[in-house]
Amino acid sequence: MLGRKQINRLFVVSFVLITTLTMTAQNIKLPAPSTQGGMPMNKVMSSRHSVREYDTAREVDNATLGQILWMTAGINRPDAKPGHGGMVANRTNPTALNRQEIRVYVFGKDSVSEYVADGHMLRQVCAGDHRKLLAGTAQFSQDFVTDAPYIVLFVADLSGLPEDEATRQMALIDAGIACENLNLACVSEGLATVPRATMDKEAVSSLLGFTALQIPVLNNPVGYAR
Ligand SMILES: Cc1cc2nc3c(=O)[nH]c(=O)nc-3n(C[C@H](O)[C@H](O)[C@H](O)COP(=O)(O)O)c2cc1C
Repeated sequence: MLGRKQINRLFVVSFVLITTLTMTAQNIKLPAPSTQGGMPMNKVMSSRHSVREYDTAREVDNATLGQILWMTAGINRPDAKPGHGGMVANRTNPTALNRQEIRVYVFGKDSVSEYVADGHMLRQVCAGDHRKLLAGTAQFSQDFVTDAPYIVLFVADLSGLPEDEATRQMALIDAGIACENLNLACVSEGLATVPRATMDKEAVSSLLGFTALQIPVLNNPVGYAR
């Protein structure tokens, strides 16, 4: 017969175990990115172009996905000390005033996740295939995007920032810079992409529970060219 103390301990252990298992199911620790190699920059620039036809049979593995996400908005100076304004400048993507206000979401076939630079991982935010929301609206849609296994969404998160036009403009520019990192990263990794403003912003915001200060700006299908 178990005493009250033992039952309590059993309850705590089970809770921790269940929580850990759930976290593991929803979060994916990505393989460490390579800081060496890749395609020479001159070759990347001479090869970059938009692709709108994707190989539906070819998946992108986690190492490759992790590599391009790190190149897009990862941490490249883990030992950086706080600089301007007490902030640590440590990202592959520069941002105005080092605000680091760009969020990167990955829409896949089973779920939507946020790329968490600190830890280089994907944190699931909802289950299901929601790539169609990024294809467009009833008025205009580009259905080819769902042929790509992933679509990366760039969100300007103005939460907690000054509510003025300059801040908003800088955030849109910052999103463009991160997006171009991804365009070039895809070339380097042999992947195809196209930067896109087309998407159903209302539906995306509603799915992800965004406020008016979290603005979906651009998205990129990511896969192998057909
Ligand atoms: C901010 C921005 C928004 C874009 N939006 C779309 C889009 O919604 N759909 C699309 O097919 N291409 C989109 N593009 C891709 C452009 O059409 C493409 O870059 C341009 O035609 C030049 O072709 P290239 O990328 O092959 O050089 C966008 C590009 C940028 C920079």
